[in-house]
Amino acid sequence: MEQFKKIILTEKEMPGQWYNIAADMPNKPMPPLHPGTKKPVCEEDLHAIFPPEIARQELSTERYIDIPDEVTNLYHTFRPSPLFRAVNLEKALGTKSKIYYKYEGGNYSGSHKANTAIAQAYYNKKDGVRRITTETGAGQWGSAMSFACNHFGLELLVFMVKVSYNQKPGRKLLMNTYNADVIPSPSTLTAAGRKILEADPDSPGSLGIAISEAIEIAVQDPYTKYSLGSVLNHVSLHQTIIGEEALIQMEKAGDYPDVVIGCFGGGSNFSGITFPFIREVIKKNRKTRFLAIEPSSCPKLTKGIFTYDFGDEAGMTPLLPMFTLGHSFIPDKIHAGGLRYHGAGVLVSQLLKDGFIEAKSKMQRECMAGATLFARTEGILPAPESSYAIAGALDEARLADIEGVSKTILFNLTGHGHFDISAYEKYFANNLPDHELSAAEVEKALAKINPIDCR
Ligand SMILES: Cc1ncc(COP(=O)(O)O)c(C=O)c1O
Repeated sequence: MEQFKKIILTEKEMPGQWYNIAADMPNKPMPPLHPGTKKPVCEEDLHAIFPPEIARQELSTERYIDIPDEVTNLYHTFRPSPLFRAVNLEKALGTKSKIYYKYEGGNYSGSHKANTAIAQAYYNKKDGVRRITTETGAGQWGSAMSFACNHFGLELLVFMVKVSYNQKPGRKLLMNTYNADVIPSPSTLTAAGRKILEADPDSPGSLGIAISEAIEIAVQDPYTKYSLGSVLNHVSLHQTIIGEEALIQMEKAGDYPDVVIGCFGGGSNFSGITFPFIREVIKKNRKTRFLAIEPSSCPKLTKGIFTYDFGDEAGMTPLLPMFTLGHSFIPDKIHAGGLRYHGAGVLVSQLLKDGFIEAKSKMQRECMAGATLFARTEGILPAPESSYAIAGALDEARLADIEGVSKTILFNLTGHGHFDISAYEKYFANNLPDHELSAAEVEKALAKINPIDCR
């Protein structure tokens, strides 16, 4: 049989709708709660930080949502994205399994974040918003948002987590090139940032702190709104274009995955590649496993608790029912900055609780070893975040070989690592420490959560 290496789709074959898994989940996700009243939020509550269409999508249970023409036009500069069969990686492993990956790094931002950045910038522009504030970890989300905002004529202010700001100066410059202002977080610009700096002037920052700073600025001005790059339902929704395309591509390859794997920060790329395949499990009784890989230094899925918690450090977001290590948790300074987030998205959290997905944590050295093998065989330099999905895929292939079976493995290669080459430099120099959150550290983090009943 012919061996497929690259499966591409034409623009016409790109699906015209995003998929909302909330329509098909047997247990619907619990509602976000207003941080003041602790009552379920309604769309109007969200209008303080989001335009109406984003607020509507956040709470929607409609199964499919049309992708607007303006968004489709920009998607077409890089979508449909290719699906590859990793034949050279398979050969190097000597595995009987088939490994496929969906490559989301082939766009202006170098990662999957462009899929939602374009949609969010578009809806804000349509609503008359002039400026957006946002956070970024390693800088992929900030880069994605910078170009999208500039394209639609919006200003952008980015709070970049300080450790990444210092590790990845190239990302800051890319954002500046796309016309955005970038501030290292915690900063003295906001009360939330000043409070953190008073307690710890050397704070490396966290996504939770950067989110607080961005929201604080947004709520002070009616023409400024806030935008988030992960975690929330509308972000996962926009990312489902990945899985919808992958379904068609797997069909073209005459194959179907036994397991679908994604790295996990707040859950958006994992949702994007898995939700359409989870629909096939729910509606058509397909037997596919779904595996999320998170860092051992930030193990909310494997060691966190399921409870209502804030999405940000200062407690300004709605309370979300999620797996969390606590909103004040500051993770170790691993290179996969985009995975340094304390909580998991609401939809994924409910699906994990209900047994639809599995989670595993990994240390960064093993992941960088996987990324290096991948670069040497497949030629693409993976982002440190994506290396976690690669390590998960390698485990599955090796395990299948030990069991004497052949598996079809699909993973999401979320981005390239061209701006993250210092992570490789440190890995080669044996200067990249492993860190696993100890039981005592987990206990300390969880003790700070004030759990709200969440059955
Ligand atoms: C390349 C890349 N992959 C993965 C992630 C993780 O985020 P999420 O879990 O929202 O997909 C990030 C976040 O910044 C990223 O930049």
